[in-house]
Amino acid sequence: MPAETRPLTKLHPFAAIRRAVSADVASLVHLEQAVFEMEQLTARSFRRYIAHDRADVIVAERTDGIVAYGITAHRAGSAQSRLISLATATRATARGIGTLLLETLHELASLRGMTCMSLEVRRDNAAALSLYERLGYRMIGEKPHYYADFCDALVLQRSL
Ligand SMILES: CC(C)(COP(=O)(O)OP(=O)(O)OC[C@H]1O[C@@H](n2cnc3c(N)ncnc32)[C@H](O)[C@@H]1OP(=O)(O)O)[C@@H](O)C(=O)NCCC(=O)NCCS
Repeated sequence: MPAETRPLTKLHPFAAIRRAVSADVASLVHLEQAVFEMEQLTARSFRRYIAHDRADVIVAERTDGIVAYGITAHRAGSAQSRLISLATATRATARGIGTLLLETLHELASLRGMTCMSLEVRRDNAAALSLYERLGYRMIGEKPHYYADFCDALVLQRSL
């Protein structure tokens, strides 16, 4: 069975991790709009990533619904994966769910033969930077005034 179609379920004290399906799109859009002020993924983008065979979309689910998601994309002919987005609902942050999602995305990318993961993060995003640095990401570049409000993007990378 190809790595990208293998079943995935992980348990965390506060949530279960599984692959996203198209029925999750409305919840994902709701979460996206609550978490990000700008540059939000649309329902169409979520649907495309979920259907794409070179992307992994996973969610963390509790009894009160989907509380977090992560997306990676894997370029054809390259061993480099990109973290497209990672978000945890405010009511569920600082419990290790973002860490578990990112570690799971690393495992899924490794199963596809990817050797490195890169991402862009706002310079002022202390929570995300702390998480990425703890998981071994190092800065490899920056993009001045990258975001709509002119905040810089830092480009981070780690080996898988
Ligand atoms: C970044 C994010 C995904 C982390 O999710 P999470 O489920 O809280 O992740 P974890 O609990 O595994 O770890 C979060 C870390 O942020 C820290 N943290 C939480 N809230 C924080 C805050 N307001 N300021 C600084 N650090 C904070 C936690 O203490 C933890 O620190 P550590 O890595 O040093 O242990 C979540 O905060 C989020 O969705 N933020 C908004 C969306 C976003 O910025 N996504 C990333 C885009 S690149």
